[in-house]
Amino acid sequence: MAPKPMSYLDRVDNEPAESRLKLVREIMAGEPLAFFQELRDRRPILVLPECVLVALFDDVIELLNMPKVFTVRLYEPKMANSYLMMHDDDALHYREKSIMQGLLNRDDLPQVRKMVADIGRDILEKASGKIDAVGEYCRMVPATIVRDYFGLIGMHRKDLMEWSYWAQVDTFYNQPFDIATPEERRRIEESHAASGEKLGKYITALIVTKALTAKLEWLLAPFRKMWRRDKRVADDIVTRMMRTKFPDSVNFDLQRVGANAGGLLIGTIETTAQATVQTIQFLLERPELLEQARNAAKSEDTSTFDGIVWEALRFVPISPYMFRQTSQEYTLAKGTERETVIPASTNVLALTQSAMFDAKAFESPEEFQAGRNWYHYFTFGYGSHECLGKYVGMVMIPEIVRQVVLLPELRAEGKIVYDGHMPKSYALAWRG
Ligand code: HEM
Repeated sequence: MAPKPMSYLDRVDNEPAESRLKLVREIMAGEPLAFFQELRDRRPILVLPECVLVALFDDVIELLNMPKVFTVRLYEPKMANSYLMMHDDDALHYREKSIMQGLLNRDDLPQVRKMVADIGRDILEKASGKIDAVGEYCRMVPATIVRDYFGLIGMHRKDLMEWSYWAQVDTFYNQPFDIATPEERRRIEESHAASGEKLGKYITALIVTKALTAKLEWLLAPFRKMWRRDKRVADDIVTRMMRTKFPDSVNFDLQRVGANAGGLLIGTIETTAQATVQTIQFLLERPELLEQARNAAKSEDTSTFDGIVWEALRFVPISPYMFRQTSQEYTLAKGTERETVIPASTNVLALTQSAMFDAKAFESPEEFQAGRNWYHYFTFGYGSHECLGKYVGMVMIPEIVRQVVLLPELRAEGKIVYDGHMPKSYALAWRG
């Protein structure tokens, strides 16, 4: 009889301490769901020399609910201009996130969804039956939304894509618990620094242009009625920021407008591209599900289709975890058998994908069941750092996928090619 293959945890335990993380990362990249299941069953809090992995729904919720204890300190060296995301539950984070949430008015969403549909359809029609879904579609649609809805005008969309790309790679894939050679790390940091400099210059020029336009608009307002029967004026998020006047005591000056405009760009393109291209592949690899999705995509009521997309993203999320660093010692899951003391300055991986397969919150978690309780998903994060772009993402992601699913005789010519972290290309073809 062949010997029983070693469990993942036995392999990890038998590995010398210095290479344990590398092995865990390899397993997570290859067979995340089976590994997470074993963690949940046998060691829900796995302590490694470089970081602690947390696998259960309850524990992930517990830690993501305490931003002052489980901090985003690791974002700090990666972000410029004191951007809100690198702050933990302080005045700046609270103030700027709520201002931006208001300006990203949820009443816009039906219009945004229509914009996404039009932009997507137009790209696909021009492609005549063949496209690289990553560069030409899944990145291009959000880049166009960044330009047309967020108002980051006057720059090629390819540049916007590149800036978003390097910021995301450096922030999310160049951390102490990522496996990379010093040369790779240096290349990522240099590319991020170079693109960050270009982004900074562009944002300054954008804010000057928008400020002048807003001033001119204000000066000309009394005359507008005389030559425009249509009283609508240009409207986008950056323009809204420029038109909104806060007293000095609110601390939201033009510099803060610039920092937040840059955040909109960085947060949008790469995340949306990865989520959409992985969902498209997930559906294409499952013909029955694709057929179900295609039928739902034809309906004017998009809720069934959207439910399929959210469930697909449970299997292929943009990342299987969110990371934090402790500011102080903390005992996680206190009073349970798995209770673990986590020292200060420890890096912690909240395995949100594992939490989305925890039977505590997901009945028959291994089954694909569209239409699950939306509140249990971690697709847009959880707690005080929950995604600012969540509601835009909630219309943009499914609509980008929907336009592709509606194509006749859609097929993939190979699998998604990754450049190490991010999707690089994915060849799609259809009867054009
Ligand atoms: C639509 C445009 C988007 C914008 C403007 C945006 C922006 C942001 C910002 C500013 C944050 C940090 C919020 C904070 O720290 O309080 C954030 C967090 C997050 N976003 Fe987005 N995002 C967008 C799209 C997406 C998409 C498409 C996904 C995934 C499919 C996503 C996933 C996340 C996640 C998981 C977090 C939490 C990170 C953490 O807790 O450390 N975002 N987003």
